[in-house]
Amino acid sequence: MRITVVGTGYVGLVSGACLADVGNDVLCLDVDPAKIQTLQQGGIPIHEPGLPELVRRNVEAGRLRFTTDVEAAARYGTVQFIAVGTPPDEDGSADLQYVLAAARNIGRYMDGYRVVVDKSTVPVGTADKVRATIAEELAARGAAIDYSVVSNPEFLKEGAAVEDFMRPDRIIIGADDERAIDCMRELYAPFQRNHARQLVMDVRSAELAKYAANAMLATRISFMNELANLAETLGADIEQVRQGIGSDPRIGWHFLYAGCGYGGSCFPKDVKALVRTGREHGHELGLLAAVEAINRRQKLRVVDKVVRRFGEDLRGRHFALWGLAFKPETDDMREAPSRVVLEELFARGATVAAYDPAASREARRIFGQETRLGCVERPMQAIEGADALIVLTEWKEFRSPDFERIRAQMRQPVVFDGRNIYEPAVMRRYGIEYFGIGRRCRA
Ligand code: UGA
Repeated sequence: MRITVVGTGYVGLVSGACLADVGNDVLCLDVDPAKIQTLQQGGIPIHEPGLPELVRRNVEAGRLRFTTDVEAAARYGTVQFIAVGTPPDEDGSADLQYVLAAARNIGRYMDGYRVVVDKSTVPVGTADKVRATIAEELAARGAAIDYSVVSNPEFLKEGAAVEDFMRPDRIIIGADDERAIDCMRELYAPFQRNHARQLVMDVRSAELAKYAANAMLATRISFMNELANLAETLGADIEQVRQGIGSDPRIGWHFLYAGCGYGGSCFPKDVKALVRTGREHGHELGLLAAVEAINRRQKLRVVDKVVRRFGEDLRGRHFALWGLAFKPETDDMREAPSRVVLEELFARGATVAAYDPAASREARRIFGQETRLGCVERPMQAIEGADALIVLTEWKEFRSPDFERIRAQMRQPVVFDGRNIYEPAVMRRYGIEYFGIGRRCRA
């Protein structure tokens, strides 16, 4: 099949490369010429495991191409994926200008039947706006061309995006006409695994299902964070509580980890956008507003602990920080807890030596002017002379460090563990003062 993907962010690029890998011919469009040039020269603008090889393989095979030519892109694919960003407006609602601009271009230049697929996370009702925008463009040039609009939300996780696309839990196809449904079924047939993964539903339900999934997961996290804070006061241990409830199959094990709050480009934005959508339609989504407020507070929880240990005034204090990315296996720092923690530490006068296996460049971009931050190349470099180590991302390489060395090289052996990757009892054995989230740290 001939496919156009509009937007080469992580959703667009991963989708385009995976669709090419099963034999489709894919043309990826982006308005950013620098990005397209990088891609054409074999560079990958994001950190995503498995993606560079996948892109290279399909570019070499001639099935994956990149362009900035809007007209050529609209004329190319029978299926036109819209995978552009929907950044939050100031009021928390998703900004649809890029989605609608993509729809406008498709309407302006398409020359035959098109299935236009919303893959970006967009508020309920967006497919109708996309449909109307294309209709306007067609009317303006007096063209009568048939098209369908489909909602096909993406469930990729950063760091596992290729695997998620290739082996999906489910593929949601929101469509209101048979022609589009048949086309989407055919397109996704190679990704079925051993049984059908396709769920066909109406467009609005598909749009809402995407928000529902992320809001449910974010709710679980905020719930566990709230309980973790209570556990600290009660002298209980959230890790024990987690195991006690996760073993109930109705609850399950996933997304029950308390920590320093959820980040990334999806949960924070989508929870806010859903609350906003509710409000616009006269529904106050109190639960989700609380999920968001708890998360905002949780990102400061580690700093609260630092302040309780070292005092409000942190001038002259130096901290080692491990983990800048919002989660492991990505260089993405959007809404990362590290940003909030760093800003608070700087505001109180502390200096920080930070290490992250992938996000140092991003940190330098964000905190470029900040002289109190040094990004180092190795985890142990950060430790030297630090008053405490703060862990904010559970990268695998942080799990079993040389604790003897950590204790020896720090000014004082104190660890604040924002992801509960260490055991309080083990830390005690090494003579390290340990603060987790919701853990029984001092028996
Ligand atoms: C999330 C969803 O998991 C994907 O299914 C969805 O497709 C994607 O958003 C999206 O809408 O595009 P992602 O943001 O990449 O994916 O990352 P997650 O692995 O879900 O982690 C989100 C945040 O939750 C991270 O900051 C992570 O540290 C935090 N988290 C996760 C916890 O604090 N506790 C947990 O138990 C799990």
